[in-house]
Amino acid sequence: ASYDHTGHEHFMAKEIHEQPEAVERALRGRLDPRFHTAHLGGLNLEPREARAIRRVKIIGCGSAYYSGQIGAQLIEELARIPADAEPASEFRYRNPVVEPDTLYVAVSQSGETYDTLAAVQELRRKGGRVLGLVNVVGSAIARECDGGIYLHAGPEISVASTKTFTSTCVAFALLALHLGRIRDLSPSDGRRIAAGLRALPGQIREILAREEHIASLAQELSRSPGAFFIGRVRGYPVAREGAQKLKEIAYLHAEAYPASELKHGPLALVGPDLPTVAVLPDDDLAGKNLATLGEIRARRGPVVAVAHTAPDPKITENVVLVPKNEPELDPILLGVPLQLLAYHAAIALGHDIDKPRNLAKSVTVE
Ligand code: AGP
Repeated sequence: ASYDHTGHEHFMAKEIHEQPEAVERALRGRLDPRFHTAHLGGLNLEPREARAIRRVKIIGCGSAYYSGQIGAQLIEELARIPADAEPASEFRYRNPVVEPDTLYVAVSQSGETYDTLAAVQELRRKGGRVLGLVNVVGSAIARECDGGIYLHAGPEISVASTKTFTSTCVAFALLALHLGRIRDLSPSDGRRIAAGLRALPGQIREILAREEHIASLAQELSRSPGAFFIGRVRGYPVAREGAQKLKEIAYLHAEAYPASELKHGPLALVGPDLPTVAVLPDDDLAGKNLATLGEIRARRGPVVAVAHTAPDPKITENVVLVPKNEPELDPILLGVPLQLLAYHAAIALGHDIDKPRNLAKSVTVE
């Protein structure tokens, strides 16, 4: 009850700025410097059981689902277990095959989202083992799961989730590290990921220090009718979450695509009036991403880039630079500027930031 937004104009701003501490809390006491793994007390998963997992299926709604896409990539990369994410409502209505050697993971900030809760109940009824990645301690979803990871992000009041999105990604990285280290992730890769996780809070602070620059880009963005968000593989779920934020609070039409999909249809809309926000992780797809941006520029589409290094100024001078972490963890950082971009676009448009129209903080009905 004592949580207010003192020092910030809105809860959303406060929660964006709380991310370094939220990440520190998500990590606290969970990294093992000796064996380069993560200790997750609440998992209720014996190493023998963890080694028998053949697949990971992640469910959640909205931003929780997008964080699950990042989580699925982390689990595939670090633990080499096939993993994917699906909206909880779609999952429960399609009468999914529930497999004994699949680990199900339900993601929910509030722990009260009805579609996610109903999916968890259906899974449990059919014998599925479900872990919860939940922020609110003792919430319905947390109680319903076999085990899980609490985010410890603290209260999140703004309807648009920010710190809990980031904390969920961190929790997924811990889960992936834990599963990886009892399967075939090497000690040196474990050490590398653990060091990367420890570096996140400081790097998020560096991004937050660029807020004024991001706000100026957001002002420009707010004058357009909408935006495309693009990314490839690690960048794609980040783009989806960025588009979600812009829709929720700036009420701008924002659509995310895998960058390679543009030429299969959406490129027809690209022109001087439709900006593209490009998420550019510094990975082996960077060249392909730049080629896509070249195609956008050839059609005079404006580009805002969120990247670790500035692209050729001929492509764009509108760049938000993000510090580099480990490739697997970079999506966590690349998402932060997009929160500020949406926040400042919504401010420029004069919208209600913390309580956007038509939306509720947690959707407890079907
Ligand atoms: C996030 O900005 C949204 N307000 C929304 O998509 C949210 O993430 C979704 O409703 C799920 O909520 P939960 O995490 O509390 O289950």
